[in-house]
Amino acid sequence: MYARPGGVIFKSHSLFPHPTMLPSAPGPIGVFDSGYGGLTILRSLQQALPEADFLYLGDNARAPYGSRSFETVYRFTLEAVEYLFRQGCHLVILACNTASSKALRSIQQRNLPVLDPERRVLGVIRPTVEAVGAHSSGGHIGLVGTPGTVASRSYDIEIEKAYPGFTLASRACKLWAAIVEAREADSPGADYFVDADLKALFEKDPRIDSLILGCTHYPLLIDAIRRHIPPQVKILSQGDIVAASLVDYLRRHPEMDAKITRGATTRYLTTEEATAFSELATLFMGHPVRATKIEL
Ligand code: DGL
Repeated sequence: MYARPGGVIFKSHSLFPHPTMLPSAPGPIGVFDSGYGGLTILRSLQQALPEADFLYLGDNARAPYGSRSFETVYRFTLEAVEYLFRQGCHLVILACNTASSKALRSIQQRNLPVLDPERRVLGVIRPTVEAVGAHSSGGHIGLVGTPGTVASRSYDIEIEKAYPGFTLASRACKLWAAIVEAREADSPGADYFVDADLKALFEKDPRIDSLILGCTHYPLLIDAIRRHIPPQVKILSQGDIVAASLVDYLRRHPEMDAKITRGATTRYLTTEEATAFSELATLFMGHPVRATKIEL
């Protein structure tokens, strides 16, 4: 055990890969989520950057992250980021709202300067908020997310800054990510909980015109979600938004663009049993996926 800057204690095996220990050759874009949710972002990233190589990591063994403490989400996310850096990624996308709201800032400010100031970790919340203005007709935004994301108030803070006249009504959906992780997204139980949470959200503000799916697991529940919202409400597709934002980022940062290998491959890693992951990922991605189990 060692102490990190900031006084947090971590296991030694994930400790401080010194910059010289990290591979310097170009590598894939790392995409991280607590589990399956990040696949909804990955699919859009692959479409936007068809030549790029990707390395997907789902921490399924420890998902869902949504009700975990700030410190735990930070520690788990940092372990994943370090792992992806050691695998040769120079850029990691936190394709997870919970990790983006609870761990991103600490990793950027506290850890990257020590790990390697040249590597980058980007999240999904800022690009989503930037896109809200173009989608909303009346400035009434609804947010569904994990308890962690909603409690962090990351969306409230960013929306207040970007669009002072907008209102945000949010609902912490305790079970949605767990339902997806349990591969029950199409079950009557899923429909029941989606209905109940959306009712509660629209009671807070019946005038919601745009709905942010503030958890990357939620597009896997899209059929149930559509059944329970008024038809005129727009749903923000976080995958497309994040992909467009990454394309723009790479255009503005050619030095990072040059560190991405382009062989049009994607490797899938999970901390849980690989067969279950491969099955769901195959269904969702629409082509055969063979995941590898790893330990963080
Ligand atoms: N997919 C994640 C998110 O976007 C996390 C879901 C969870 O693990 O609770 O928030």
